[in-house]
Amino acid sequence: MSTQVVTLNLPGAITDNGNRPLLMHEIRDLARRRNAIILAHNYQWPDVQDVADFTGDSLGLSLEAQKTDAEIIVFCGVHFMAESAKILNPEKKVLLPNLSAGCSLADSITAESLDEWKRRYPGYAVVTYVNSTAEVKAMSDICCTSANAVSIVRSLPARKILFTPDRNLGNWVKKQVPEKEIVVYDGACPTHDVLRGANISKTRSVHPDAVVFAHPECREDIIALADEVCSTTAMIERIAKYPGAKTFIVATESGIVHQMKKRYPGREFIMADGCIGCRLHCPYMKMITLADVKRALVETKFEITVEPEILASARVALDRMLAAPRDN
Ligand code: 13P
Repeated sequence: MSTQVVTLNLPGAITDNGNRPLLMHEIRDLARRRNAIILAHNYQWPDVQDVADFTGDSLGLSLEAQKTDAEIIVFCGVHFMAESAKILNPEKKVLLPNLSAGCSLADSITAESLDEWKRRYPGYAVVTYVNSTAEVKAMSDICCTSANAVSIVRSLPARKILFTPDRNLGNWVKKQVPEKEIVVYDGACPTHDVLRGANISKTRSVHPDAVVFAHPECREDIIALADEVCSTTAMIERIAKYPGAKTFIVATESGIVHQMKKRYPGREFIMADGCIGCRLHCPYMKMITLADVKRALVETKFEITVEPEILASARVALDRMLAAPRDN
């Protein structure tokens, strides 16, 4: 854990009364005394990332949650991520510091709509993106994240697949695995889906030598213009592939730039919409503040619970995913 604070010039990034170093110190002290681990997604506010023991993508966070010895997991991300941590650690307390941190993509599919869809496509294997509720995971054959979706679909024995709920990720997988018959559900992440190829072209016209990184939740026209299409952690790792590149255009949520700048302070990272924090800003991810993290540790709030029967079935789908390799 690094306590070095590197801030992005984002509106609303000040998440406490100004005494941020003291608050961060208190949080670290509380975490130690309560035997808690703090996990943060790459989209969290910079100060929340800096106070965490581990910052990563959805897959990395699930793996970290699976192997921790801590009694309490404070999950700085959105609800479905904390729920996955609970499914993988039923005996531990999993806390989400702000219960309003949901996910509109996860909400786009319910147990009822998946049930109806499964009846429409009998015999299809269901591959569900982790951006989904425990109920939906429990009805799926296997889960995936943006870091392993292609490998998982490719390695499944089934040829016919229902991919849910993200249509952009599903269409990306479909292109990579043409030998499978893949039916894609019609959900999308509004933060990614708002981008158009024209945004990239415009930003690139100002930075013609820039390398373009896109998350597979982006639409096809963005993917077509990208040099790399991958998960958030893979984006950070792939910077090393371009030792001569000075500028990177980033088509995903703006929080990721914090880790990129920390690791590569000499490089320039530009949001694909050309406007830091305007459109590429997930309102749910940004609901968790340092003050919320402190309250979570002091008051043991908000504890995530999952019904045992749902938990057991969702666990099968998540365990199968965790046994699969990363895409690259
Ligand atoms: P990652 O798989 O890179 O963590 O992305 C998760 C996500 O929710 C993207 O919107």
